[in-house]
Amino acid sequence: MSFSADWLALRAPYDTAARASALERRLADWLSARSGPEPLSVVDLGAGSGNNMAHLAQHLPAGQSWTLVDADGALLEEAARRHPGVSVRQADLAGDLAALIPEGTGLVTASALIDLVSEAWLARLAAWVQEIRCALLVVLTYDGRILWEPELAGDGEIRDLMNRHQRGDKGFGPALGPEAPVTLSRLLPGVETAMSDWQIAAGEPAMRAALVAGWAGAAAEIAPDRAAAIEAWRDRASSEPRALAVGHADQLWLPD
Ligand SMILES: C[S@@+](CC[C@H](N)C(=O)[O-])C[C@H]1O[C@@H](n2cnc3c(N)ncnc32)[C@H](O)[C@@H]1O
Repeated sequence: MSFSADWLALRAPYDTAARASALERRLADWLSARSGPEPLSVVDLGAGSGNNMAHLAQHLPAGQSWTLVDADGALLEEAARRHPGVSVRQADLAGDLAALIPEGTGLVTASALIDLVSEAWLARLAAWVQEIRCALLVVLTYDGRILWEPELAGDGEIRDLMNRHQRGDKGFGPALGPEAPVTLSRLLPGVETAMSDWQIAAGEPAMRAALVAGWAGAAAEIAPDRAAAIEAWRDRASSEPRALAVGHADQLWLPD
């Protein structure tokens, strides 16, 4: 599944505002207490154009060596342009995780990724970070909540159809979609979870319109017989200035 650089740039400031800073501080303290002479080796899964690193690196102790992994070569090129000297690796995450996350990695991170993956894949990731005793910070996982202010007729139907679409195969087998945060909590005992909801004000039409277009498209794929109602919802929801929150979760796991 592909994501445009423009979309990743549009969402980046909402991601930054939403991130659970308490988990970042806890990770930074934990890393500081363990820092040695070697730089911290960080692997960013599904790194896209590098937004996760652009935010997180400054909040972690100095001395880091990042590898950005993604299937999309164009996004990685953009990441390399933005962050000269960073290692980029074009690979399908559905393949061998041990090859992408070598032993000695200190931190695995992923932003806006794990709602796309299957339970089997997430179980493999959870088992591998436990085996190599590597910290895991997974952020901005969609959790199924869409809260309009005010809520109007049709919003609930679109949300439910969109959440069904989220469970489709995104390249890893049936996707966890909104179940991803609870599934990670079950697979990785001790994981800490904090909310990281997007807050989109009524006066921010670009983000609202992009979300509405994506959700309407997903809903129409699930319920083609509802195409007319979905189109009417899309026209109204794009143009009406309503505030919106979109539920996300950040999760941190630290080895003992
Ligand atoms: C929603 S974007 C998030 C990008 C970035 N982490 C951010 O927060 O801006 C999801 C990313 O996962 C990548 N991705 C999805 N499936 C993948 C796969 N099977 N292998 C490698 N990368 C994948 C996409 O190319 C995309 O860059």
